[in-house]
Amino acid sequence: MSKKSKPNKNNTLERVLHSQGFGARKLCRNLIRSGSVSVNGIVCEDPDQAFETDNLQLEVDGYEGVWPYCENAYLLLNKPAGYECSRAPKHHPSILSLLPDPLRERDVQPVGRLDVETTGLLLLTDDGQCIHVLTSPKHAVPKVYRAELAETADQSLCDKLLSGVLLKDEAETIAADACVLLNPNALEMIISQGKYHQVRRMIAAAGNHVQSLERVAIGELTLPADLAPGNWQWLDATQMRLAGWTPK
Ligand code: URA
Repeated sequence: MSKKSKPNKNNTLERVLHSQGFGARKLCRNLIRSGSVSVNGIVCEDPDQAFETDNLQLEVDGYEGVWPYCENAYLLLNKPAGYECSRAPKHHPSILSLLPDPLRERDVQPVGRLDVETTGLLLLTDDGQCIHVLTSPKHAVPKVYRAELAETADQSLCDKLLSGVLLKDEAETIAADACVLLNPNALEMIISQGKYHQVRRMIAAAGNHVQSLERVAIGELTLPADLAPGNWQWLDATQMRLAGWTPK
């Protein structure tokens, strides 16, 4: 058992529940007293009972599923088209509306952004340092995108993207790290920067157009085939390391 996780007054059930986004301390206390909270499968009605937080699993009436205790939340969302990656969206609903209340209450935020119409792998977390590092140009995490093309293409499109294209308002050409034509109407490319509309602009600069765009991987972390658009899942430390971040 790590020192941090030993039962003490800082990890009473009331504090634990509050820390995981289940509302104000008073509300958490009432939830516990009313028998709505289970810890590791056993109902606990004592808000002052302290728990080890390692591997602690919460179930709370009114909230679907099992909630693993986590100091920071790391999530993967399969972003559907038609959602904005913003807390204050302008024209479409926010991706945050796809998450349950406790995660919004914890203030999870997307790690970088995808365009409204782009789908696929989006990381979210309440770990500010993780967001800072994974979105910093210095870190240069490779991201894999699949693009459906408006016009049929051949290898010469990939060759252009690999040798570099000049985007408006950029001083230097920018090249894909890798690019493979999947069929005459689709390609997969890897980029390590996160410039505004980068894939769409690069493909346009190379003479074609993106019809639809999906992010399928960040680093070595891939979008699970069985995660439907609009659904999310927890990520553990091993999965986050694949995406380029080692949780504390
Ligand atoms: N490149 C784009 O053009 N759009 C995205 O959403 C991500 C990368």
